[in-house]
Amino acid sequence: MSKTEKSVYECSDCGAQSPKWLGRCPDCGAWSTLVETRARAAAGKVIGDMRGARVPLPLGGLLHEQVPRVPTGLGELDRVLGEGAVPGAVTLIGGDPGIGKSTLLMQVCLAAARRGHSVLYVTGEESASQVALRAARLGSSDGVMLLATTELADVEYALRAATFAIVIVDSIQTIRASELQSSPGSVAQLREVASRLTELARQGGAAMFLIGHVTKDGSLAGPKVLEHLVDVVLSFEGDGTHAYRLLRGQKNRFGPTHEIGVFEMVADGLREVPDPSSLFISERPDRAAGSAVVATAEGSRPMLVEIQALVAPAQYGAPRRVVTGLDSNRLAVLLAVLQRKAGIQVLDQDVFASVAGGARVDEPAVDLALCAAVVSALRERALASGLLAFGEVGLTGELRSVPRAAARVAEARKLGFGRIVLPKASADRLTGAERAGVELVAAVRLDDALAAMF
Ligand code: TYD
Ligand code: MG
Repeated sequence: MSKTEKSVYECSDCGAQSPKWLGRCPDCGAWSTLVETRARAAAGKVIGDMRGARVPLPLGGLLHEQVPRVPTGLGELDRVLGEGAVPGAVTLIGGDPGIGKSTLLMQVCLAAARRGHSVLYVTGEESASQVALRAARLGSSDGVMLLATTELADVEYALRAATFAIVIVDSIQTIRASELQSSPGSVAQLREVASRLTELARQGGAAMFLIGHVTKDGSLAGPKVLEHLVDVVLSFEGDGTHAYRLLRGQKNRFGPTHEIGVFEMVADGLREVPDPSSLFISERPDRAAGSAVVATAEGSRPMLVEIQALVAPAQYGAPRRVVTGLDSNRLAVLLAVLQRKAGIQVLDQDVFASVAGGARVDEPAVDLALCAAVVSALRERALASGLLAFGEVGLTGELRSVPRAAARVAEARKLGFGRIVLPKASADRLTGAERAGVELVAAVRLDDALAAMF
């Protein structure tokens, strides 16, 4: 470490610096906010010294500098990234342990190497032989370079010594910068490692993928600054008891956000699922109370999923609300709307609701189907088998329009749903061709929609 680059402790709230660690920031008084960082020589102080200064450029003239994207070889991943990885860009992929992050990115390596790209896989998590064993299950690993290390300096050296089209770092939490005393995975280390890797990717033009751990609540472990540093943030999710995995875009500087890729974990790795709707509703029980199908459209692709609910009189104390794959606050709101605006007595009931098949749905378009599933469970009456519902429910009991109604209707029609209950505002925007072949039940209010369904 050179003299100009010693560690200082910086308050993550106010930015005040201290030469040693303190429990409380002397400037703003916040507790436990001081984190170790490398001190940098103050830059840009000398006005008039123009050496190395950047000058403004015409924006339009920069277009030709764009480098073509690198398809990852996995169509579902490319969809989420937006037609492949961008050279020089960094993608952070988070997910629970064992969900398949290493498998996914090893498959990317193998596919890219097959197409003649130079590929580097850095593993700080598993030994070289463990990685080799996994790779052997997934296919031929010809042309993939492996670096087993936890030292950032090794990675830097490798990336300066050769150019790679694709670089995987598994995982960001295990790599440490030896200049900092903090342990790997600490806020200071993550920030330092991520910013230096990002810099290297930019300089070398590699499409870099960083694997990140997640905390118990599912968010990426580490400071928010990690998500700001990188260009793309994806989360790989799924429930350990099912084979399906969803890759969800959360941030994307170069493509669509909220796009979803669907995979299935099989014996020889992750298999792409290009047509997830039929898969998610394939096990739907026939004529069972408490089941409703909704057409979601979180990315560009609509997807049908089954919502299930179970309702039972609350036994002790406050009624329970348990959800899987849905937002529990949303369920609480919808139960209150059902009770107060649609006259359905549910607030004294225990309510359990889930998305079948281990998927997770985040958009308000699921509201109507969730209400329908709850009412169906409460009344022990099954919905008609060819019926599908989507729409957002407002606090006054009104049905609100949702985006991409035409795509949802088309997907429902494709999978044989003949009767679709939807908000009138959404139905009104559909053209004649978009309405063809299905019966649309347009409703203005939740109670009207429920009356049409039961
Ligand atoms: P892994 O990629 O190691 O998960 P992560 O890096 O997210 O922790 O995946 C581990 C799981 O995937 C493990 O439980 C075994 C399973 N798996 C398969 O079912 N098939 C396969 O071909 C591979 C490589 C893994
Ligand atoms: Mg792993």
